[in-house]
Amino acid sequence: MELRALPSAGPAPASAPEPRLVVLGLPDLDAVMDIEPRAYPFPWSRGNVSDSLGRGHRARGLRCVQEGRLLAYAIAMPGVEEWHLLNLTVCPEHQGRGLGRRLLDDLVDHAVGDGSAQVWLEVRSSNERARRLYQRQGFEAVGLRRHYYPAGPGRREDAVVMRRALR
Ligand SMILES: CC(C)(COP(=O)(O)OP(=O)(O)OC[C@H]1O[C@@H](n2cnc3c(N)ncnc32)[C@H](O)[C@@H]1OP(=O)(O)O)[C@@H](O)C(=O)NCCC(=O)NCCS
Repeated sequence: MELRALPSAGPAPASAPEPRLVVLGLPDLDAVMDIEPRAYPFPWSRGNVSDSLGRGHRARGLRCVQEGRLLAYAIAMPGVEEWHLLNLTVCPEHQGRGLGRRLLDDLVDHAVGDGSAQVWLEVRSSNERARRLYQRQGFEAVGLRRHYYPAGPGRREDAVVMRRALR
């Protein structure tokens, strides 16, 4: 029997198996684009996502074990002995159940494993939820990029630059 989520499915029941960590690439473009515009008021465009998936960045996802549906993704760019987290997104119906933290931990574990010195990211100054997650996972705010993000007609929002040192 095929199991299908209801269109307005709420958080998964506590007994559901943990989503599986998977490698993402260009074939996952549609699945990512199904989540991206629902998770952000100013989402990445299809072109942004396709560029980053096709460019060999590190893209990982969490997939529902029963349905195979993508629930969350993280895209990171390697630098010299460092990683830059470009996008961390959990689909709205599955936020607040530890998936974001799991993907962040996966990137940090990978960065530790390859000997990197640090992981960087930027986050909207108003994004309390994401900032709190990053702080809890050992990132500290080290700077501000003024007017970095679009924020509506004629408005911009600052980015907080966060870094987690690994050595
Ligand atoms: C931000 C985001 C990635 C976090 O992922 P998540 O899976 O929802 O978060 P988690 O369940 O892993 O929670 C991790 C921590 O976030 C914080 N958090 C979670 N839900 C929260 C809420 N409703 N209010 C405030 N903080 C919250 C908590 O500190 C939590 O730690 P805990 O284990 O002590 O509860 C996710 O909510 C998301 O995709 N949001 C929309 C897109 C976005 O803003 N991405 C980040 C761009 S920088």
